[in-house]
Amino acid sequence: MAKTTTTFYCQNCGTSFAKWQGQCTSCNDWNTIAEEITQKEAKKSWDIGNSSTKRRVAKPIKIADIQTSQEVRMKTTSKEFNRVLGGGIVPGSLTLLGGEPGIGKSTLLLQLALKLPFKTLYVSGEESAQQIKMRADRLTKDADNCLILTETNTQHIFKQIEATNPDFIVIDSIQTLHTDFVESSAGSISQIRECTSELIQFAKETSTPVLLIGHITKDGNIAGPKILEHMVDTVLQFEGDRNHVYRILRAIKNRFGSTQEIGIFEMLGNGLREVSNPSEILISKNSDQLSGNAIAVSIEGMRTLLVEIQALVSTAVYGTPQRSTTGYNAKRLNMLLAVLEKRAGFRLGAKDVFLNITGGISVDDPAIDLAVVAAILSSNEDIVIDKNICLAGEVGLSGEIRPVNKIDQRILEAEKLGFTRMLISKHNKISVKKNKIELVLVSKIEDVVSELLG
Ligand code: TYD
Ligand code: MG
Repeated sequence: MAKTTTTFYCQNCGTSFAKWQGQCTSCNDWNTIAEEITQKEAKKSWDIGNSSTKRRVAKPIKIADIQTSQEVRMKTTSKEFNRVLGGGIVPGSLTLLGGEPGIGKSTLLLQLALKLPFKTLYVSGEESAQQIKMRADRLTKDADNCLILTETNTQHIFKQIEATNPDFIVIDSIQTLHTDFVESSAGSISQIRECTSELIQFAKETSTPVLLIGHITKDGNIAGPKILEHMVDTVLQFEGDRNHVYRILRAIKNRFGSTQEIGIFEMLGNGLREVSNPSEILISKNSDQLSGNAIAVSIEGMRTLLVEIQALVSTAVYGTPQRSTTGYNAKRLNMLLAVLEKRAGFRLGAKDVFLNITGGISVDDPAIDLAVVAAILSSNEDIVIDKNICLAGEVGLSGEIRPVNKIDQRILEAEKLGFTRMLISKHNKISVKKNKIELVLVSKIEDVVSELLG
C-alpha cells in the first residue's frame, strides 16, 4: 500500500521542512517554501523487466585487495568535451550539464550524440521530434547511432531503454522529467530528486552513462537545488555571453578527473565548432592602434588564454560616476581604481570607467589586473599601448605588482603568438630558458606608468 506524505521544500536550495514558514532558514530566501506530495513505494520504476538481476550485494574489503583495471573511457568525437571530462565518458557515470537558457546546451549535446561512435538515446522533454530533426539537419548529415525519444515519464523512458539497449543516454532536461512515484509537478524539488536517484541507480547498476541537462536559476545556480549537484558524479557548466559566439565548457565538479580543464566552442550557423587555439581569436587583428586597449595573458584551468581588455575613462556626466564591467569583477575594478587614486595619484574619482573583456568571455584570473590597470591608464591619458606588449601580474592593495602562477607557460604562449615585450612582476621566478621575448620586470604601479606611458 502506497504511503502518502507531504513535505515542505525550499524551491531555491532544496532544504526540507516539516511545516510551512516564510523564510528558508538554510538559504535565507523569502517565499520559496512550497508543499510537495511525496508517495513512496518499495519498487522502483527501473526494476521493470529483469534488470534487478544485475544487482549485487556489496561486502567491505581492504583497499589493497581492490582490483583495478585500466580505466575505460568512452571517447566522444569532440576533443574539447573529452578534455573537460578528463579523457572521455566514464561508464556508469551521471553527468549534469548546466547553463543559461539559449546558451546552446541542447545544441552541444545533440551534436555530440549525433556523432558518437556508440548507440545513443537522446531523450527530449523540451522539443518535439520534428524540432530536433530540424536542428539535427543543420548540425550533421550522418547520424546512424542516435535514437530520439520525446518523453518525460521516467517509467516510459526506462521501458524504451530496455527495448533499445543504448550505450549512452542524454536527458534534455531533468526539470521536465516526472516519475509516477511522486505526486508533485515536474520541476519540483521532490520530482527532480526522485528522477535523478532513479537515473543514478540505473546508471550505476547497468554501467550506462547518463548525461542530464539542467536549467539554471537567475542567479546562476542549477535550478532545483544544490542536492542535484551532490548526487551526480560530474557537473559541467556551459557559459558565455549569448550575444557573442564563444562558449566555455567547464567542469565544476568531477569525480573522475580534474576541474582545471576547459573546453572552448564557437557558435556558428551549423552548430558548435571546437576552438583549439583560443588565444589567437580573442585578440583583435585590426592594425589601428587605439588607446584603452591592453592584452592580458590569463590562464583558465590549464589553458593559456590571451584576452584583450578595453577600458573607457571619461568625465562623469552626472554627479555619481558610473563604473561598469563586462567579463570582469566590478568590485575588483573599484579596488584597482582606489589603488590608482591613492598610490599613483590618478584622479579617477570623478570619472566614469567602463571595462570590457572582448569576446564575451569572463575571466577570474587575478593575473589580468595588470592589463586592466594598463588599459585604464591608457584610456585616461589617451596614450596607445603598443600592440606587441602583453601583461601578466596581480595588483595588490599597496600598488605593488605581485607574482602570478604558471608564469613560464604564460611567457611561452605570449612568445608563440609573436609578442615582443611582456610586463610581469619583478618577484616572479622564471625558469624557462632565455626567450626571444623581452621581459620587463615591474614592482609598482609607477614602473608600469613609466614603462607604458613614458
Ligand atoms: P539551444 O541549444 O537551444 O540552447 P539551450 O538548450 O541551452 O537552451 O541553443 C539555442 C541557440 O543557439 C539559439 O539562440 C540559436 C543558436 N544556434 C546557432 O547559432 N546555430 C545552430 O546551429 C544552432 C542549432 C543553434
Ligand atoms: Mg535546450
